[in-house]
Amino acid sequence: MKLKLNVWRGAGESGGFETYEVDAIADMSFLEMLDVLNDRLEGEGKEPIAFDHDCREGICGTCGFMVDGVPHGPENETTICQTHMRRYKDGDELTIEPFRAAAFPVLKDLMVDRAAFDRIMQSGGYISVRTGAAPDAHAVAVNKHDADAAFDAATCIGCGACVAACPNASAMLFTSAKIAHLGLIPQGQVERWDRAANMVDTMDDEGFGGCTNHGECAEVCPKGIDLGNIARMNRDLLKAKLMGK
Ligand code: SF4
Ligand code: FES
Repeated sequence: MKLKLNVWRGAGESGGFETYEVDAIADMSFLEMLDVLNDRLEGEGKEPIAFDHDCREGICGTCGFMVDGVPHGPENETTICQTHMRRYKDGDELTIEPFRAAAFPVLKDLMVDRAAFDRIMQSGGYISVRTGAAPDAHAVAVNKHDADAAFDAATCIGCGACVAACPNASAMLFTSAKIAHLGLIPQGQVERWDRAANMVDTMDDEGFGGCTNHGECAEVCPKGIDLGNIARMNRDLLKAKLMGK
């Protein structure tokens, strides 16, 4: 199939769209389709399109850009690296651009700097552990409901699509998932209140907006992270502030 791609090209925040035609086959992934285009551009002595990727299996969170205004494109609960060209048809025209958020400055073409997420993690995304041999599995009992909710939150891959989809560029879905992942299990209780206060403070300092209940984040999240995590984070934050954190 022949596709027309309008791709954002540029270094930093300045740039513009360039149009390319590409031959794709149905079994290619979206990133393989871009690989084919990049091979051709390099053969013509032109700069390839810069985009982030690593595992290409939907588990690392490295990939991510907008396709026709939607982070990770049109497939429900699917990263762009796991999206395949079979969902498109001959003659389709696609617009591809980087995530847009002040806290995610554009580096080049489709690549943005998501180090702000790393700084949120550094401010509280850890637990205190004893060094030494790993404890036996089940040595610390966790009730099933909390274990399931913590596991669901832990599936967040830190891709940033939630921020890109939100009209406020809020990082509350990401931050709340990380707080829930650690705060729902016994091992995460020691830092629970400091974690909530510090991660939310860092999120605000990094320039992410606040949640106003649009829900766009959960709509585009490739891992189906639940909005209820934000409510839980707000409850933990309120308690932390009442404790003077
Ligand atoms: S909450 Fe979802 S969209 Fe946001 S960073 Fe995690 S996996 Fe990506
Ligand atoms: S490249 Fe790892 S999730 Fe897409």
